[in-house]
Amino acid sequence: MKKEHVGIIGMSVMGRNLCLNLERNGYLVSIFNRSYKKSKKILVENPNKNILCFKNINEFISSIQKPRKIFLMIKSGNVTDKVINSILKYLDKEDIIIDLGNSYYKDTIRREKYLYNLGIKFIGAGISGGEMGALLGPSIMPGCKKSVYNIMKSIFINISAKYNDFPCVDYIGPNGSGHYLKMIHNGIEYGDMQIISESYYILKNLLKMSNVEISEIFNLWNKGELNSYLIEITRDIFLKKDDKGNYLIDFISDVAKNKGTGKWICKNALEIESPLSLITESVFFRYISSMKNERHFASKILIGSKNNFVCNNKDIFIEDLRRSLYFSKIISYAQGFYQLYIISKINKWNLNYINIAKIFRSGCIIRAKFLNKIIDAYKNNFKLKNLLLDKYFSEISCKYQNSLRNIVSTSILNGIPIPAFSSAISYYDSYRSNMLSSNLIQAQRDFFGSHKYERIDIKGSFHTNWK
Ligand code: 6PG
Repeated sequence: MKKEHVGIIGMSVMGRNLCLNLERNGYLVSIFNRSYKKSKKILVENPNKNILCFKNINEFISSIQKPRKIFLMIKSGNVTDKVINSILKYLDKEDIIIDLGNSYYKDTIRREKYLYNLGIKFIGAGISGGEMGALLGPSIMPGCKKSVYNIMKSIFINISAKYNDFPCVDYIGPNGSGHYLKMIHNGIEYGDMQIISESYYILKNLLKMSNVEISEIFNLWNKGELNSYLIEITRDIFLKKDDKGNYLIDFISDVAKNKGTGKWICKNALEIESPLSLITESVFFRYISSMKNERHFASKILIGSKNNFVCNNKDIFIEDLRRSLYFSKIISYAQGFYQLYIISKINKWNLNYINIAKIFRSGCIIRAKFLNKIIDAYKNNFKLKNLLLDKYFSEISCKYQNSLRNIVSTSILNGIPIPAFSSAISYYDSYRSNMLSSNLIQAQRDFFGSHKYERIDIKGSFHTNWK
């Protein structure tokens, strides 16, 4: 049978790996990159493969089988618009452009509308899994018209990661929803990384554990409820030595960078009024980490706690920490999935949370055993608003909350920054409260601005002359 012939624009590591993935799965792949040298190198490094490379964009487009399927694997932002505009004149109606970059979902919505009016089909597909994911199979989150997804479905399935043969790709929803989901994925990724880092810091600074001991703890944790890709790589990170034989982790700067997707999810949480405190703290923590000079200066002036921590029972403390990590992870996912619930309602996306959790189980950065619990939760109640209300998650929350309280209070007493852990317990305590302190906020608003308040005993809106 003749091989289906597709195209990719963008030959960075991700583009190259996706090209090899497509080729391995039986496709003939035309590649194009702004600098021809990069494309040529891929060809030279991968001889006898079904890859064609082009210097000229027109020839590249002409080589692809119609209706064309062209993947964009380029830096998201203005470049995406530029590349789309540069190829438009060579395209025919019914051709499909698939943007696999980390594009902002509102840009994706705009691009789909624009291209639709020109007769060109467009898919905004989030992909996760980094370089290895692109090569061996990523988790893919396509957002577009269902009919367009159906045209691409078999390719997506072939190149995606598999979880026990189950392909980690599914139709997410209309225009923009795929990239929105990728943004949520990345926020959850930030949250996971933050709570893991806070755990590490507690093991290091309160229990004074060595890198090898910390690695052993993560190794143990990876065998249980916390089993996940991020825990697994964390375990390995602590054992890595540099050329001089030193543990590398101790020589890595504590300035954490970011590419902006974390900022997007937090901005959107504020926009649609969805409480996303844990992930937002994780993003802020990266910003605080970047204030290296200021922190250095402040460290000479501001003192911390003088408490000298004494651990009475190391095993109990470590188990408290493990439970804190798992419980905080639940809170983070509860907040992330709640945001999906809100946006799905606003945009009428009709998101399927079971399928979403399913496609996260392999290929992507947040892949974890725990996702099966999320699947069960939504299977038990498809209309579940907040994961914490599911039987399994509520039982874990009730059982593990005291561990988190212990870890948070001990850390605070000892001056260890744990913004994500403490936001987790605060969210839990706020969410489970029938009555919050905000009656006072309402009274204050009415006092200074006649903003009115509601009463708990009588219906209506009231204003009081407070003086
Ligand atoms: C993935 C990742 C990836 C992301 C990096 C870096 O799913 O493969 O989410 O898409 O770009 O993790 O993100 P930051 O630079 O913002 O940490």
